[in-house]
Amino acid sequence: YNGQTKRVHQPNMMSIAHRGASGFAPENTRSAFLKSVELQADYLECDVHLSKDGELIIMHDERIDRTTNGSGFISDYTLAELREFDAGITFSEEFKGESIMTLNELLDEFFDQIGLLIELKNPEKNPGIEESVVSLLSKYDDLSSIIVQSFDIESMRKMQSLLPELNVAVLVRPAESFLSDSKLDDLTSFASFVNFNVSFVNKSMVNKVQQRGSKVLVWSKSDKKLVSKAHKYGVDGIISDYPSWRISEQIYL
Ligand code: G3P
Ligand code: CA
Repeated sequence: YNGQTKRVHQPNMMSIAHRGASGFAPENTRSAFLKSVELQADYLECDVHLSKDGELIIMHDERIDRTTNGSGFISDYTLAELREFDAGITFSEEFKGESIMTLNELLDEFFDQIGLLIELKNPEKNPGIEESVVSLLSKYDDLSSIIVQSFDIESMRKMQSLLPELNVAVLVRPAESFLSDSKLDDLTSFASFVNFNVSFVNKSMVNKVQQRGSKVLVWSKSDKKLVSKAHKYGVDGIISDYPSWRISEQIYL
């Protein structure tokens, strides 16, 4: 990143930093979220679980093994215990000492700076997570920069009914990416977004969602053609580990 701020392509297609700008910094950490702001992403995406003492912990896996120097389930630790682990060192030495973050801290620091796409992970294993997130979000008058998403459709239906002004998104599992017309009617009746893995969707499915008044985001961890496919399909936004495509000429078109 060289400080230039030239937005070269499709200003209407949103750039969303997957687990923060996780291609450049440890996923789901403050460093990755700061990088998302620096790269002028429209949103940062993060994943949320409940700790043993009911705190909203930002991490992707239900175990801490892959992204910290600890071992075990998030749900077996209190926030104070989780703070002892290093969430930067597995990415690189440069990020040693990075702490895990809570959703509360993320909102306090980033709500005014960037949109937030908050994913509830395995809500069926984290009972009460919807109510906890709603109670945090309720203190904000304007929720237009927030989206809450999950692969769990019923959890998102619940979020939307608990907080009707909130935009919710349904994540579609790759293997279930062909959605019938009646399924599409149901999802778009409450979800503002229906989000797909870019390798498992096509233009026709994107059109069907958009014709029903909802938006489409696509994600990929590895597809080098992500940006060009997204353009071709006419999606509303891209969830990428490398959100630098927005300000760089070096994009895959
Ligand atoms: O936002 C889409 C994406 O985050 C869903 O997959 O596994 O990275 O949470 P995952
Ligand atoms: Ca996610």
